[in-house]
Formats: sequence, structure tokens, C-alpha cells
Amino acid sequence: MKILILNGPNLNRLGTREPSIYGTNTMADCMQQLAAAYPNVHFEYFQSNVEGFLIDRLQQAADEGVEGVVLNAGAYTHTSIALRDCIASLPFPVVEVHISNVHARESFRHTSMIAPVCRGVIAGFGLDSYRLAVSAIVSI
Ligand code: DQA
Repeated sequence: MKILILNGPNLNRLGTREPSIYGTNTMADCMQQLAAAYPNVHFEYFQSNVEGFLIDRLQQAADEGVEGVVLNAGAYTHTSIALRDCIASLPFPVVEVHISNVHARESFRHTSMIAPVCRGVIAGFGLDSYRLAVSAIVSI
């Protein structure tokens, strides 16, 4: 099974970015843990700070036999109709994830443009949100 872990803007700075909110672990740590926990899953990882590159990667995933996507769209979650339209067109489940509990933060983070077209949403469990999302995808 092939699962794409896709991160949006500023998530390349995990480990040093606002550690009181996002913790001190890096995405490399997270990917290592996922690979160890799911040896039968082939993980792909992609991060971009550019909205269109995230859309390009999702469209490519559809042509590559990816069976599920764990998507942390960062701030694009709250703004991007283009990302939403792309997700709506995909043949596999996309799970929206957030490291922080967005509902306990500023009100502009309470709205998700993409949640209605995602299979589900996981937020607030730190980097463990990614593992929970993978666990959901493998059991769909
Ligand atoms: C985030 C929450 C977003 O509101 C924020 O813009 C991010 C990270 C999270 O993982 O908690 O970049 O998606």
C-alpha cells in the first residue's frame, strides 16, 4: 500500500518553528516512526510552501497508484478553494491533519476549506496526528 504524507507551508520548519505549539520533533523523526510502525506501507513524503505545488503533487498521486493521503495543508487549510477542488477530484481518501488543536486557537483557524471534501480530520495530537491518520487510512 502506498500512502503520501503531504505537508504545506512552514511545516519544513518543524523542530524549530514555534516549539511551544508544534513541539521539537522534526518531520524526519515522524517519517521514521511511521516507517517502523507500518513496515508494509510504502510512504512518500512531500512538502511545499507553494499552493500550486501541493496541487501538482496531489494530481500526480492520482496517477501513481497512491491509496491515501495524509494532508497537513498548514494555513492553506483555512484559505484554499483550489486545494479543496483538487481533493474533491481525487479517487482515494485524504485525511486532514493538524499538529495543534486548531479549534483551541485563533478563530481564523476554526474554518477549514478542505474538511468537507476530506474523509476525516485529526487535530491536536502533535506529530502523533500523522500516525492516527495513517491508522485510519489503512483500515478504510
Ligand atoms: C497547522 C495549523 C494551521 O492553522 C497552521 O497554519 C499551520 C499548522 C497544524 O498542524 O497545527 O501551519 O496545520
